[in-house]
Amino acid sequence: MIRSVLALLDIRPAYTVMLAERHDLHRYDLVPDKQKFLDEMGHQIRAVVTSARFGVPEDLLAQLPNLEVITSFGVGHDVFDLKALRDRGIRLSTTPDVLTDDVADTAIMLMHATLRQLVLGDDWVRSGKWAAKGPMALTRSVRGKKLGIVGLGRIGQAIASRAIPSGVEVGYFGRSRKDGDYRFFDNLTALATWSDILVLSCPGGAATNGIVNEAVLDALGKDGVVINIARGSVIDEPALISALQQGSIAGAGLDVFENEPDVDPAFANLDNVVLYPHLASGTVETRDAMGQLVVDNLDAWDERRELITPLV
Ligand code: 8YV
Repeated sequence: MIRSVLALLDIRPAYTVMLAERHDLHRYDLVPDKQKFLDEMGHQIRAVVTSARFGVPEDLLAQLPNLEVITSFGVGHDVFDLKALRDRGIRLSTTPDVLTDDVADTAIMLMHATLRQLVLGDDWVRSGKWAAKGPMALTRSVRGKKLGIVGLGRIGQAIASRAIPSGVEVGYFGRSRKDGDYRFFDNLTALATWSDILVLSCPGGAATNGIVNEAVLDALGKDGVVINIARGSVIDEPALISALQQGSIAGAGLDVFENEPDVDPAFANLDNVVLYPHLASGTVETRDAMGQLVVDNLDAWDERRELITPLV
């Protein structure tokens, strides 16, 4: 048993119960007087359970002087200051691999939904436009297109292997050239110029902040489509909205946004976008697997001072 564990959220009810059965668990989100709690308990906390969305705020971290380990629900680590954690000797685990399939499936789903205008088509049927106005305008085929992947990590590779059977050619841009048959581009604008469909599957954070800017969108061109399952911060969102409004790109399929969940209302007025509420890993099966991995990481820390999926 780790005395004591601070959970910043309910990762999933069944797994929060498991954590409470195994450890002396405190639910920070339910504590009414947080400062009083920290004054009394802060020095006892050895582990924090959080998510890729919440991280651990700096002022909270500063009040946990004996913190050993953070287990995060999610694979993204842009909310964490990894250097600060290393400097303090705090270990961090995330939940990679278990979410790769669902996130890659979501990218493929958004790609097809955007090119084939799934949301417009759904509305065409529901609203009676089909009967009133006749057939909907033709859409664009995925087959034969060039798919540019930004970030060919685990998720990017899973997207590529799912896309190939749909008849696309794959190219990618990333920090390094990988083994394999996909075409490597050493700069993003060159990839965008080559691509018909640009899929973002790179980490968020300072290194990728706003890299898909006006110039990259211009290079993608008026028939180009952007799919983002990475982080909203990777795209210069005002530039994206203006490109979509002016038709300087053809469309976008977006699971992530700059301000979640208060998404820019301009998106709602665009009929060339397919919007999804940051739910790429959001299946019961994958969220259970992520919850189990959080529990298992804490068990491993408790039993042998090791993490199963360490990042730091
Ligand atoms: C989750 C994610 O939505 O893994 C990530 O980095 O963004 C998603 O899987 C998130 O972790 C849940 O808070």
